Amino acid sequence: MATRRIGVLTSGGDAPGMNAAIRSVVRSASHANIEVMGIFRGYAGLINEELKVLDHHSVSNIIGRGGTILKTARSLEFLTEEGQRRAVEIVRKYQIDGLIVIGGNGTYGGGIVLSKKWGIPCIGIPGTIDNDINGTDSTIGSDTAVNTALEAIDKIRDTVTSMERIFVVEVMGRDSGYIALQVALGGGAEDVLVPERKFDIVRMCHDIVEGNIRGKVSWIVVVAEGAGSAESVAKQITDLTSLETRVAVLGHVQRGGVPTAKDRNLASLLGIEAVRLLSEGQSGKAVGIISDKINVVDLEFAVTRKESQIDTIYEALKKLT
Ligand code: F6P
Repeated sequence: MATRRIGVLTSGGDAPGMNAAIRSVVRSASHANIEVMGIFRGYAGLINEELKVLDHHSVSNIIGRGGTILKTARSLEFLTEEGQRRAVEIVRKYQIDGLIVIGGNGTYGGGIVLSKKWGIPCIGIPGTIDNDINGTDSTIGSDTAVNTALEAIDKIRDTVTSMERIFVVEVMGRDSGYIALQVALGGGAEDVLVPERKFDIVRMCHDIVEGNIRGKVSWIVVVAEGAGSAESVAKQITDLTSLETRVAVLGHVQRGGVPTAKDRNLASLLGIEAVRLLSEGQSGKAVGIISDKINVVDLEFAVTRKESQIDTIYEALKKLT
C-alpha cells in the first residue's frame, strides 16, 4: 500500500538545524502527496497524543532558526512496555504509515524498538551536537555547536593571554569528545580531555610546570563534560602545580543559535532522503552523508560507537603547542 501519511518527531537534546530537517521532511513529503503529522515533544508527545498536521506553510521561515518547532524531550515512559504499547496505539489510531525520528542515540534506540519490536516503519535522521552517530561524517547541529564553542574559546584566549593564566574550558559531550577535540585544535588549546580516552593529568601538570619555567604562562585546557568537570580538573592543576587557574563552562549556549550553512544543508538533504526511503517501504534505517554522498545504514549500526580523529588530534596538539 502506498505511503499516505507519515509522522515526524524530534527527541533528546535539541540541535541547531533540526528545524531545517523538519521543513525538508514536510516539503518533500508534500511534493510526493504524503501528509505529515508533526509529533510534539518526541516519544513523550507520541504517548500523550500531541500531534498536528504540518502543511507546506507551517514550516515557512524556520530554516534558519535554532531549536525545534516540534519541541523535544527525553521520555522515561517510552522505555517501558506500557509506554511503547501506547505509542504504537497512537500511531495506528492516526493511520500513520511510518515515522521519521530526528535525534541522537536515544532517539535511534526508540526507532529500533518501534521498527523491530512493533513493526512500525522508522527512518532516523541524525540530529545531535555530539556527532557520535555512525554511518555519517557529520550530524545536524554539530558544526554549529563547534563554531559557537570556538567563538567563546577565541574570546577566552584574549583574556588568557592578557592575564597570563591557565584556563580550563568545559564543553558539552557526555559520551562524546567531538566538540572538545574540534575546538581544541581550532582554538589552539594546549590540551584536551575526552571521555573516550584515559588522560594523564599528572603528565599534563608536569608539562605546565616545565612550560612555566621556560616562560610559557598561558594555557587553555579543553574538557568534554563526560571526561570530568572543569572545576575538578582546574583544582587538580592548582593542587599539583601551585599555579592559579580559572574555569569557564560553556554549557547549553552550544545547543542554540542560528544553524550554519553546513547544518542547514545537511538537514535539507537528509530530510528528502528519509522521506524517499519511507515512501519506498524501507524501515529501520538511518540516513547520513559520507564524503559528500548520501549514505544509508541500519539503525543498529548507527548507534555503534564512532570515534572521530581522536588520536590524530592528540598528536596534532602535541606538535602545535
Ligand atoms: O544533546 C547532547 C547533549 O547536549 C550532550 O552533549 C550533553 O551531555 C547532554 O545533551 C545534556 O543534556 P541535557 O540538556 O538534558 O542536560
